[in-house]
Amino acid sequence: MASSRAEGSRKSKAGDPVANRQKQLEAFTQGPENLLTTSQGVVVPDNHNSLKAGPRGPGLLQDFILREKLAHFAHERIPERVIHARGAAAHGYFELTRPLVEYTRADFLQEVGGRTPVFVRFSNFIGGQGSADTVRDVRGFSVKFYTREGNYDLVGSSMPVFFVQDAMKLPDLVHAMKPEPHHGMPQASSAHDTFWDFISLMPESSHMLMWLMSDRALPRSLRMMEAFGVHTFRLVNARGASHFVKFHWRPKLGRHPLAWDEAQKIAGRDPDFHRRDLWEAIERGDFPEWELGLQIVDEDRAAKLGVDLLDATKLLPEEIVPILTVGRLVLNRNPDNFFAETEQVAFHPGNVVPGIDFSDDPLLHGRLAAYTDAQLARLGGPNHAELPINRGVCPVHNFQRDGRHRTGISRGRVAYEPNTLGNGSEFRVDGGEQGFRSVEAELESPRVRRRSPSFDDHFSQATLFWNSQSTWEKEHITAAFQYELSRVETPAIRQRVVDNLAHVDAKLARKVAEPLGIAPPDPKAAAGQAGFREPQGKSPIESAPSLSMEAAANGIQTRRVAVLMASGVELGAYKVIQQALQDAGAVTRVVAAHLGVVASSSGQQVPVDHTLLTMPSLMFDAVLVPGGAACAEALLKDGEAMHFVFEALKHCKPLCLIGESGEILRRAGVPEDAPVPAGVIIGTNEPTARLQMAQDFIAAIARHRHWGRAMVEQVPA
Ligand code: HEM
Repeated sequence: MASSRAEGSRKSKAGDPVANRQKQLEAFTQGPENLLTTSQGVVVPDNHNSLKAGPRGPGLLQDFILREKLAHFAHERIPERVIHARGAAAHGYFELTRPLVEYTRADFLQEVGGRTPVFVRFSNFIGGQGSADTVRDVRGFSVKFYTREGNYDLVGSSMPVFFVQDAMKLPDLVHAMKPEPHHGMPQASSAHDTFWDFISLMPESSHMLMWLMSDRALPRSLRMMEAFGVHTFRLVNARGASHFVKFHWRPKLGRHPLAWDEAQKIAGRDPDFHRRDLWEAIERGDFPEWELGLQIVDEDRAAKLGVDLLDATKLLPEEIVPILTVGRLVLNRNPDNFFAETEQVAFHPGNVVPGIDFSDDPLLHGRLAAYTDAQLARLGGPNHAELPINRGVCPVHNFQRDGRHRTGISRGRVAYEPNTLGNGSEFRVDGGEQGFRSVEAELESPRVRRRSPSFDDHFSQATLFWNSQSTWEKEHITAAFQYELSRVETPAIRQRVVDNLAHVDAKLARKVAEPLGIAPPDPKAAAGQAGFREPQGKSPIESAPSLSMEAAANGIQTRRVAVLMASGVELGAYKVIQQALQDAGAVTRVVAAHLGVVASSSGQQVPVDHTLLTMPSLMFDAVLVPGGAACAEALLKDGEAMHFVFEALKHCKPLCLIGESGEILRRAGVPEDAPVPAGVIIGTNEPTARLQMAQDFIAAIARHRHWGRAMVEQVPA
């Protein structure tokens, strides 16, 4: 039998697990050296000239140094992930804040304060590796917990539901959404015919479509993005008792979106916007943080919730089952090498540890098969668990042998179980209490290839989501549908989508249809289509405020504030506001027409961080324009500077315009007698007003965006 001594040593508590994991990785890390060698370790004396027959050629085949170098170069690429190809990642730790002994035996969920090293990869679902970060998409949020009982992967997503209910439909979904196969366009976008053709024939995707068309698909930052385990899993305690569980990651900085126009422009100006933001925050020491929340459901109660927990197109509103906060996730170290870590990391929903198990969700079961195949193909063989980033922190013992890129050296003559030749006594693994045991259950059901009738409710939660949105969120969803469908060339597809939408909300469908040049929506037409099945379900609640992003204001930590300046700037008010912003955790950057310094009205030299050309206001959360007659005059004459402020105004960002710079508002088309637009602070250089102005500006930034701002359509940007 496997000895309990061996099990005990796996759970050794020696040292700090997070530091130990880092040490483990360091054993594989190479730094720069002042010496160049071949892969065999032979010192290379000349890295500029190949071996030739005479200085003017021809090259010699015996040049093993050149051949090795070129051969390695030619093999540098591995296949990108079929989906979630574009990603960024970071190291960190998970800390338990509430013990879960009554629900699970998972070792890392027992002891409050216990820290487990993690590696987290964020990804875009549909775009290829070189696509832009800020496209409209669902994002992946994969967490690998290196626990003492083995690696546990929570391979989640920025939306709590998925497009399809059964794994059988996943390849069709992806083929429809990826660039169209004849011409390979468009990249990283759902706004094209094949996606909407497929999706309009799949009413089960209605709920996910609402999320995808909402601002959830446009996160301001990966650090300000909520994430979910999507499927229902199980927690299993030491007595074998099991509860259903749904996982939630809630960002400490709140959940905030970009504006659609802004997201598209950022995709051009800085396609790496999200990964840069993550990297820079960690480098600055602003470590991103999330709370782990659980919805735990008694299995006996599950049938009475009015929500089928096995259907991945449904969420469990926290208004029905509240979320229990149990821990926090902190990302505090950037990877050393993108390929070795971010690219080679292999997440798998089937990587679970004792105490965590699967529900019978058919989509999840498909995933359990899919990731193994994907990683065999992508990472070139069955030994990818030995790659440093995928290695567990506990010992691995098994009789799996050989295969490509095997790095472990297994000692001894025994590669089978049971045996007596390994350690001199019988070794047999055929039961016992240790390790992972699947939840036992009676399975007496006919073999069928069909879905549960409870999966037939395709619209009730799409309607619930719609009903739960604020006015601006509804406007953004409507505009997103209009945008996507305006790019669909086939009128019949546009028509099918709005006919389906009428089952979500008649007004939404009518509004979406208005600019599309098609007939008004007809829900009866949709009901006749394939895939549309009765009976219609009903959500147990009408609206769930937790689904809206119209939330209480957060702090302004890590928000980027641009300070737009030109020569002659008055620094009095600026200095007070700048200090207040910095004290509140914001990051301020001076932007001007040129690099170097800007001379203030009193002759001081202010260092410039960025020029208008390289750093548009798209890259900031708020804009401050200090006063000074000469400064304002210069800015008002500079088209780039005006565009900078206009765009910020259009994207509903907080603005603080001091003294003469208030004139910029007039240029933006806001009449003198009109009310000041929401989130815009018009200040003076009056010393007594400075502190209040700083506080007002901070309060405006904390609201993130002022989506209800009037007149944004008129702003020329
Ligand atoms: C049957 C449905 C699904 C199938 C067949 C499937 C398949 C795959 C495959 C083949 C990969 C690439 C894996 C690799 O090469 O390492 C992948 C990645 C991923 N999938 Fe799924 N997937 C499905 C549904 C989902 C759902 C519902 C979610 C969200 C909970 C999800 C989240 C992810 C994430 C986050 C990644 C990227 C992992 C990483 O960062 O490396 N998938 N999926």
